[in-house]
Amino acid sequence: MEFKFTEENSKKIEDILKRYPTKKAAVMPVLYVAQEQNGWISGEVMKEVASLLGMPSDEVLGVVTFYTMYHQKPMGKYHLQVCTNVSCMLRGAYKIYDYIKDKLNIANGGVTEDAVFSLEEVECMGSCGTAPMIAVNEDFFENLDVEKADQIIESFKNRN
Ligand code: FES
Repeated sequence: MEFKFTEENSKKIEDILKRYPTKKAAVMPVLYVAQEQNGWISGEVMKEVASLLGMPSDEVLGVVTFYTMYHQKPMGKYHLQVCTNVSCMLRGAYKIYDYIKDKLNIANGGVTEDAVFSLEEVECMGSCGTAPMIAVNEDFFENLDVEKADQIIESFKNRN
């Protein structure tokens, strides 16, 4: 399906482009806006971003596949990222990760049948001082244990 930025996002992108020396240099924030709008970065999204920024689609694909923050398939409404890097791991991240996997019955990269949650094991998100932590979409939840992680998931379930 063809992808076009909304008018609001086109304006957002105009502002982003003003902050970069070249259009190409803005590929990451532009992709981010695209993902916010579309939920994931499809081939059509990449085509549109490439044409907008005047760069080859292959280069856009290179960025999308390099950075884990870009989703290459549709994810859940609430995307859970569980950090299992050193600080979080030492403070029980795998207990939390395994608990969430079992609770939602999905594997890494999986999406629940109702498309409400998706799960991803990720590297350090820069919040090591408050490890272990998870992110739900843009929001960080820190100093977690299994009980707190459970409460967070339940609270998002109830928002739905
Ligand atoms: S190790 Fe988990 S946030 Fe840094």
